[in-house]
Amino acid sequence: MPPGQPGRPQAPGTRPLKTLERVISKSGLGSRTEARSWIHAGRVRVNGRVTENPDQWVDLVLDVVLFDDRPLAKREHVYVLLYKPTGYITTYKDPEGRPTVYDLLADVDTFVAPVGRLDLDTSGLLLLTNDTQLTERITNPDSHVPKTYLVKASMRLSDEQLQQLRDGVLLSDGPTRPAEVTRVRDSGKYTHLEITLTEGRYRQVRRMIEALGAVALKLVRLRIGSLRIGALPIGHWRPLTAREVSQLRGETAAPPQR
Ligand code: URA
Repeated sequence: MPPGQPGRPQAPGTRPLKTLERVISKSGLGSRTEARSWIHAGRVRVNGRVTENPDQWVDLVLDVVLFDDRPLAKREHVYVLLYKPTGYITTYKDPEGRPTVYDLLADVDTFVAPVGRLDLDTSGLLLLTNDTQLTERITNPDSHVPKTYLVKASMRLSDEQLQQLRDGVLLSDGPTRPAEVTRVRDSGKYTHLEITLTEGRYRQVRRMIEALGAVALKLVRLRIGSLRIGALPIGHWRPLTAREVSQLRGETAAPPQR
């Protein structure tokens, strides 16, 4: 029997049990760290009693959980598309005090987490949601969701170099999967190209460009699957439409079981 549920009969497998910390954070009120601190601060009651143990099991059907004496709202999924500018980090808090993407989402009243990250010096489409299942489906390398970037390379790249990007280049963590690559234009000393990857390794686009002896001077994410930034101004966000959400779900069908 889970701790903190004295005397309650428990039919294994028939009741959704979660830790109190998870129940609070999943309700959309805040991160897991915040949930723990609120529980420690005595702001949470389970069945009328203040409960300061974030690891206490809670029965989602039988137990009544109150936060600041109010029942938890039924959690709805929230999907946010942010046009991230450069200079913002994709984490909740930065020990160095740099701006974070959450500074741009102050008016989103539900806690949403980024679906993958963009570097400090990358701009473009950042999806944030509290739908952990969709997040897992998009970020799981087996689901091969295409992500498209616009790159300004620090030199003119030859057709052979673009072909190398298509075929795959060898990075320190292994060869890259085949990619779609289009030359957008050459201007002065630079090549602008679009690259679509079906994986999302750490600083992958930058490292692929470096493997050719160049540097990505500018990197903008344009698309995740069918989702596009469209006319959204930089630094702004908008909710996804129901159609966009269902399209993303369709494109990220659970990877086959092996
Ligand atoms: N690839 C990178 O190198 N950086 C990003 O931010 C995203 C993809």
